[in-house]
Amino acid sequence: MIDRMFGKITLSIIKPDAVQKEYVIPILCKIIHAGFHIAALKMTELSKKSAKKFYAEHKNKLFFESLIRFMSSGPIVSVILEKENAVKDFRILIGETNPVYAKKGTIRNLYASSLEKNAIHGSDNNQNALKECLFYFSNREIFLKENFC
Ligand code: CMP
Repeated sequence: MIDRMFGKITLSIIKPDAVQKEYVIPILCKIIHAGFHIAALKMTELSKKSAKKFYAEHKNKLFFESLIRFMSSGPIVSVILEKENAVKDFRILIGETNPVYAKKGTIRNLYASSLEKNAIHGSDNNQNALKECLFYFSNREIFLKENFC
């Protein structure tokens, strides 16, 4: 069902550091003010096994074990966001992966504390966006704006 939303959705994760610091609502407010529709949202926890599956593309990186430990250390909030050019516009809104380089006013500039504890995730391309959305949500849990009355 969401396959035809290629280019119009992205997957975001509010990471354990930001959830723990009570940044969920301020971050969601910024996202909505930037024109994104929340099509799906859940607070959940990643097991080490699920985190390894989600971050499989990084499995040979030096930071992999630490990333898995961090992402399974506490609750996360996963969100599907709908907007024209969702992937690109969302990556502009969140800023550079390393918050040191994130532009002023971006989510990572405001809420991240390090390269690992960088507050939020955004899909890096449209193909991965679809894949990542279906990692966290079933079709029945996704409520696209175009389907609203
Ligand atoms: P994100 O792009 O959301 O998903 C992969 C994560 O790996 C990335 O955010 C960073 O939090 C983390 N990451 C990327 N590069 C490094 C690195 N060199 N050292 C530690 N963590 C990293």
